[in-house]
Amino acid sequence: MFDAALVWNEGGIVWVGPDSELPLEFKQCSPIDASNQIVIPGLIDCHTHLAFAGWRADEFVERIQGATYLEIAARGGGIASTVAKTRAASFDALFERARLFLHDMGRAGVTTIEAKSGYGLNLETEIKLLEVYQRLGATQPISIVPTFLGAHTIPTEFKTNRAGYIELLCKEMLPAVAKRNLAKFCDIFVEQGAFSAEEARDILQQAASLGFKLKIHADQLSDGGGAALAASVRAISADHLEHVNDTGLVAMAKAEVVAVLLPIATLYTKENFIPLRRFDQAGVITAIASDFNPGTSPSFCLQLALLLACTQHGFTPEQALRAVTINAARALCLEEEIGSLETGKKADFVLVEADSVSEWIYHFNPSRRMQTFKKGKLI
Ligand code: NIG
Ligand code: FE
Repeated sequence: MFDAALVWNEGGIVWVGPDSELPLEFKQCSPIDASNQIVIPGLIDCHTHLAFAGWRADEFVERIQGATYLEIAARGGGIASTVAKTRAASFDALFERARLFLHDMGRAGVTTIEAKSGYGLNLETEIKLLEVYQRLGATQPISIVPTFLGAHTIPTEFKTNRAGYIELLCKEMLPAVAKRNLAKFCDIFVEQGAFSAEEARDILQQAASLGFKLKIHADQLSDGGGAALAASVRAISADHLEHVNDTGLVAMAKAEVVAVLLPIATLYTKENFIPLRRFDQAGVITAIASDFNPGTSPSFCLQLALLLACTQHGFTPEQALRAVTINAARALCLEEEIGSLETGKKADFVLVEADSVSEWIYHFNPSRRMQTFKKGKLI
C-alpha cells in the first residue's frame, strides 16, 4: 500500500490504512515521517543457534578444500568441537557474546528470534544455554523463543552408548527443562551421525507428552525421512529439507507442518536449493531463517537469506518477505501476535530506506539505514 499510515501505542497496532482515511482522533498524534521509506513487519528469525563459544573457520577452509561436513563430524570436529568450547565457557561470556549478536540483528530489522540450545549435550550446559536465553529475553528488546536441542547429536562420552544418551534425554533432561519452563519447543537433528528417524520418534513423543511443541532438523544432508516424521508427530515445522522427497512434502502439507528453508546453510554446505515451486505444488507453507550457527551458517544476515531465497529458491521479493514475517511467525506459533502490520498485533515494525521491497532485496546492502521498532519503541 502506498501513502499509508500506521498508528500504534505500546500495547500494539491501533489502526492501519491509507493516510487519506486516517480517523480524526489520530491526527494530533506526533508522527514519524516515513516518506521515501518502506514500512515492513519486524523480521522474525525462526531458526537460530544463537549461543555458542568459538568459531569453526578451520573447518570452513577444510570444506573448501573438499572435506565434507559428515567427514569432519566423524573425526570429532563439527558440533562436538563447539560443544567442548561451550561447556568450558562461562554463563557471562555466553550471555555477552549472544547479546552483541542480538544487538546487530536488531539493527538489521529483527524483532523476534527463535534460539536453540544444543551445544551443551549435558544437563548442566543445556540449562546454562537456556538460562542465557531467559536472561536475554528479560534484559534486551528482541523477543526470544527458546528451543531445547539436547538431541543435536550424541555427545562424545556416549559414542558407544547411544541408548544411554537417549535415556538421559528422555528421563532427565526433557523433564528438567519442562519443569523449569525453559523452552517452548523441542528440536532434534535427524541425520546420519546424529539421530535416526526411529530414535527421533521416541524422543519427540516424550517431549510432546511433557508439553513441548516440536521441530525437526530434517533431510538436510540426506533423505532420512525427516519430513514424513515431522508430519506424523505433528511438528510445527521441519527445517532445512534440502533432500526432502515429494511424499514427505505431501504429508507435511496435510499435517500443516511449516517448511523452514535455511538458504545460508545451504550455501555454506553446497547443498541443493529446492525450488519454491515444489513446496507450493505440495501446498506447504514456507518460512526462511538464518540458521545462525558456527558450523553451517556463521552469518545471521537475514538480508542475505532473502537474496538467496529469491535468486536460488525462486521466491519473489514479496514472497520472501512473507517468509521472514508472517510465515516465520507461524513456525513459532505466534501468528496471532506478530508477523504482519494489522490492528491488534504488536507494534514490531521496521522503516527501511528503499523504494520497494524488491529494490531493498535486489540492491543487497546490509549497511542500508533501517529503523527498528519493537513494541512501539525505536531500538
Ligand atoms: O542447523 N544441522 C544441524 N545443526 C546445525 C549445524 C550445527 C553445527 O554444525 O554446529 C544446522 O545446520
Ligand atoms: Fe539449525
